[in-house]
Amino acid sequence: MSIKNTFPKDFLWGGAVAANQTEGAWLTDGKLPNSTDVMAGIGLDAKQPGISYDPVTDSFSMHLDENKKYMSHEGIDFYHRYKEDLALLSGMGLKAFRTSISWARIFPKGDEKEPNEAGLQFYDDLFDEIIKNGMEPVITLSHYETPLHLLTHYRGWINRDMITFFERYARVVLDRYKDKVKYWMTFNEINNMYQMPFAAGGYLPRSIDPKAVYLADSYTENDLYQAAHHMFVASSLAVKACHELAPNSVCGAMITSSPVATYPYSCNPDDILGTMDARRKTFFFTDVMCQGKYPKYIKRIWEEKDCQPEILSEDLKIISQYTADYLAISYYRSSTYKSDFIIKDASGSLTSGANGEINPYLKETTPEPWCWPIDPKGLRYVLNELTDRYQLPIFMVENGVGLDEKTNGEMIDDPQRVKYLEAHLEQVSEAIKDGCDILGYLWWGPMDIVSAGTGEMRKRYGFVYVNRQDDGSGDLHRAPKKSYYRFKEIIEMNGF
Ligand code: BG6
Repeated sequence: MSIKNTFPKDFLWGGAVAANQTEGAWLTDGKLPNSTDVMAGIGLDAKQPGISYDPVTDSFSMHLDENKKYMSHEGIDFYHRYKEDLALLSGMGLKAFRTSISWARIFPKGDEKEPNEAGLQFYDDLFDEIIKNGMEPVITLSHYETPLHLLTHYRGWINRDMITFFERYARVVLDRYKDKVKYWMTFNEINNMYQMPFAAGGYLPRSIDPKAVYLADSYTENDLYQAAHHMFVASSLAVKACHELAPNSVCGAMITSSPVATYPYSCNPDDILGTMDARRKTFFFTDVMCQGKYPKYIKRIWEEKDCQPEILSEDLKIISQYTADYLAISYYRSSTYKSDFIIKDASGSLTSGANGEINPYLKETTPEPWCWPIDPKGLRYVLNELTDRYQLPIFMVENGVGLDEKTNGEMIDDPQRVKYLEAHLEQVSEAIKDGCDILGYLWWGPMDIVSAGTGEMRKRYGFVYVNRQDDGSGDLHRAPKKSYYRFKEIIEMNGF
């Protein structure tokens, strides 16, 4: 059989998940709540997470809504079943497995001086098991998982103290796992903080506007840029710590690259300039984290929005000295920019970016109700654009498709997932031929997990079915789908 799309010899084929979408055990072994524990879907609940504000004491506290189901509290019980899951994934021949460390397992409140040994031991055992199954652990330090106490008591990343808390956490885990983990990344999809300040940005408004209907109405642009600045410094300090404590490891920045694939709807100059501005909302993050300095265009934006984030000169030195070793990206879709079109949030799920005017050249979307445009060529475009701009190795740490699947006990046949996989891999292969240095390709959710955006189980990304339903029922048993065997073949052939 001839292989058309080939990949480098040491290409990291793998899968990716996050602690909060899989582990469950949300209050086990000393862990306390984190940001996603109070959200029944970070897209759906972005404006009203389960916290309440008391204007008398001007303080926040956890306040779960008893009418909502917080699926992540049990997840897919990965905390207790990871051995079975990793054995299944290793059966596909996966060479890498990405997950996050849940910060609140290590520092339950976030501001303690000493870490929680039970949490550290859990990740020691988990990483040993990943390695035992022939996979490279790829670890995210913060995947929408800020300890809730840091939000309710410090207002999160708008507070400069967060840099100290994060650096302490990063140093503890980098040192502890230095012989086990080679690939680290700091904040998952940091550029999602525009639409999800609470989950992706990990910060709360300084005070609540009495007229605000939603918590989100009280956020200011200045808070956003202040939080981003503190996260930039913290991210650079994590890179520094990685170089000092784990010299054989690398520490990357991570963004959702879907908004980089924003196309001008037409050659109308207003569409072109609008597209430039829209894409800069993402480049702003990578320009700082990969080039080590604030881009020139931000000055005008801050002037016009009356933003004056506090930036110390020593911060700028840290940012310039410790830039990301590589760039990790997720990619799900593209969108268009049309100057007179009002951009809408993606259907119920802010994770994928914004919905522009429908692109008439794209014929397919993911199934209803999610309907994300399917655009594999957009991935080649993104990989080239990011390579041209930063000249860094790129790690594709998320790509996948969520399908609503049911089974009466028979193996699920999922040709739609196989088609999506092959179409995107073909474009990764093209990008490699274009000269992009791609470290690996990790499928998002190799086993079914809780959706970040909508908090559902029925939005299934997995090659492995997990029997858990949205009403909480299901015996949690795992069963490979047909796509499991196709991905296995592709990995075996190192191409297809
Ligand atoms: C990415 C996130 O935005 O998209 C993941 O990093 C998330 O956490 C994934 O699960 C897919 O989004 P969703 O909303 O379909 O789970």
